[in-house]
Amino acid sequence: MPNTPEPPDTPEKLDGRSLDLRAQRLDALKAVLPEAFDLDGNLVQDKLLAALEPVSYEATDDIPTFGLGWPGKQQAFAAAGVPTTATLRPAPDESVDFDTTQNLLIQGDNLEVLKTLQRSYHGKVKMIYIDPPYNTGKDFVYPDNYGEGLDTYLKRTQQKDEDGFWTSTNSETSGRKHANWLSMMAPRLTLARNLLRDDGVIFISIGEDESANLRLLCDEVFGSENFCNTLAVEMSTTSGPKTVNAQQGTIVKNIEYVHVYKKSLQFESNPRTPLFDSIDAYDTHYSIWMHEDGTLGSLSEAMMHNDLVRKDVKKFGFEKNGKFSIKNMDKLFAVSETAKAFVKENLSKIASVDRPPVSAEGESPEFGRWETFEADHRVYYLTRLENGKLRALMPLAMNYRTSDDYRPRFGRTVIRGDLWKGFHQDMGNVAKEGGLSFENGKKPIRLISQLGKWATLQKDDIMLDFFAGSGTTGHAVMAQNAEDGGNRRYITVQLPEPLKDKKNNCIQVTLDDGVVCETIFDLTRERLKRAGRKIKAEAGLNAEKLDTGLRVFKLDSSNFTAWNGDPAPSEGELFERLEKLADHTVPGRSESDILWEMLLKMGLPLDLKLEQFTVEGAPGVHFIGVNDRTRVVSTQPAIPVAAFEALLDTPPEEGGPPAELVVLDSAFEDDTARANVATLYRQRRDEDGKPLCNLKVV
Ligand SMILES: C[S@@+](CC[C@H](N)C(=O)[O-])C[C@H]1O[C@@H](n2cnc3c(N)ncnc32)[C@H](O)[C@@H]1O
Repeated sequence: MPNTPEPPDTPEKLDGRSLDLRAQRLDALKAVLPEAFDLDGNLVQDKLLAALEPVSYEATDDIPTFGLGWPGKQQAFAAAGVPTTATLRPAPDESVDFDTTQNLLIQGDNLEVLKTLQRSYHGKVKMIYIDPPYNTGKDFVYPDNYGEGLDTYLKRTQQKDEDGFWTSTNSETSGRKHANWLSMMAPRLTLARNLLRDDGVIFISIGEDESANLRLLCDEVFGSENFCNTLAVEMSTTSGPKTVNAQQGTIVKNIEYVHVYKKSLQFESNPRTPLFDSIDAYDTHYSIWMHEDGTLGSLSEAMMHNDLVRKDVKKFGFEKNGKFSIKNMDKLFAVSETAKAFVKENLSKIASVDRPPVSAEGESPEFGRWETFEADHRVYYLTRLENGKLRALMPLAMNYRTSDDYRPRFGRTVIRGDLWKGFHQDMGNVAKEGGLSFENGKKPIRLISQLGKWATLQKDDIMLDFFAGSGTTGHAVMAQNAEDGGNRRYITVQLPEPLKDKKNNCIQVTLDDGVVCETIFDLTRERLKRAGRKIKAEAGLNAEKLDTGLRVFKLDSSNFTAWNGDPAPSEGELFERLEKLADHTVPGRSESDILWEMLLKMGLPLDLKLEQFTVEGAPGVHFIGVNDRTRVVSTQPAIPVAAFEALLDTPPEEGGPPAELVVLDSAFEDDTARANVATLYRQRRDEDGKPLCNLKVV
């Protein structure tokens, strides 16, 4: 997203057409009856009639349901529930460390991709960050055709038409601007919610065009009780061309928003890490001096007892009748390094007055003295005010730490609230981040890192971004792992949207190492590769353990012909069919394509590390082992019945689930072999009649 659109730098064009009388009348009507129009600016007959009804002040039960409505809403939500037959095909040539990495980049329309991930990642993702198109009218909004989502996508990606295959922006004049955008977001958010863990959280960046609508949509999808907050992120200052507009009275844009929703209350029972901003001014509430003998004095007195500080107080003219007033602390700090050093050395002795813990009621510190009190694994310093009230003392040490600012500083800090200042400084450098530029709303790494820090992304949690753009999220995850030795993983999804110039012509971009990019997806991949290489090179001793690889998958039609072109089946039918499928694989698909589709549809994660092995008694049959209990035979034809016998004899683990064998239908030599294996399968049962080894046929 353009973060904050700049004022136009060319004069506006005059409209050469004659006056549009209808538009003029509608404008006049809108001026007196705005309530008769929907959010997209269309006149709604019912609303018009309702607005002209005689006013009644009598209470009525006939109140329409409160909430967000738009044309196409029902269809949009229903779209989330239509299962897809699509698959994700591995692209090892475009990957880095394909066999070992746990980081994923998926090319495709995110609605279809989110559907393909439902089995494998249901309830597994700790944090989602997305930065969708802000619907400024200039950005591309993918037009879903729900009945044939995958088909539309494939046609667009595989047959370049004269428009350059993706042309549509969602302009105001379409009369469906907001409705289209909401219909695009609703099913995606619904599917995203399913992927979140119960203690998970989603962050959504948005501009003012859709911020209010998105809030209401999220209330519906995630539940208003799960709304955490909306962050206001300072992305620019009023400078440059904005100054001129501001001087003319326009309130120019400086902020973007991030809506934050948790999956459930469980998010709150997990640790969250507060963020801190530095503050330069001295907070004069910190004026109490805690003497070691348990008595209390003032900071200004203690400062005057220090020869060096007293000298500076005198030298800079802050001494009055041999005393120093704390009110002058800021001014003294501005000129005296000695005073600053004195405070820094005595952080644990300087304090302000705070509320005492409830459990301290009944303790008996005296006025003018302090004493310690322990509760909840913490030490409190208690005192009593002159009026007898119990209070805790807050040592300055608690507020001195390294800030989370653009340039982290050690010093006094305040806990950050919902105002996230200073990201305009990152924006100055953002073009260079990741080693390539991306003009479609690239976000600073620090923003995503800090969201992850607050959400307390643990060492091997998954972070998902299904509007990946230049891949900042993946970059932030790798950078965080490099910093603390974590093993967090990322899943990023990006459409192969063609790169375009300002005149909307498709272009190619050649990167400094000669790699040619035609789509945004190409840029995402290249940035993640570059970021990974750089992070690894700078990681020193930790480089070995650090996963900076990238496993690429691409959305495509199923490898099994029987699945393609079918009207979408219900979920039940889909998996019933999976069991019955014959060996019709699409020509040109590789063994690896088929294997990964089998794994995906079994609900196994896409970051699996696979091994090839054989089993005693089944010579010549090569398996892909997902682990030592799950064995998949992908394209290998004609497994002898004797080999099946050995495989089905795999005993279950003590107390554990049975082993699993997954084969293609073509693995049977013929119908007789299929019938014989079926008999064997019925025989190999434990005392309760359960199979020793589960056989699944694809
Ligand atoms: C604003 S950009 C994200 C920028 C990103 N946060 C960054 O730091 O680079 C939004 C991205 O979403 C992509 N996108 C839009 N619709 C999509 C869809 N249906 N599926 C996948 N990606 C989509 C666009 O191509 C664009 O790259």
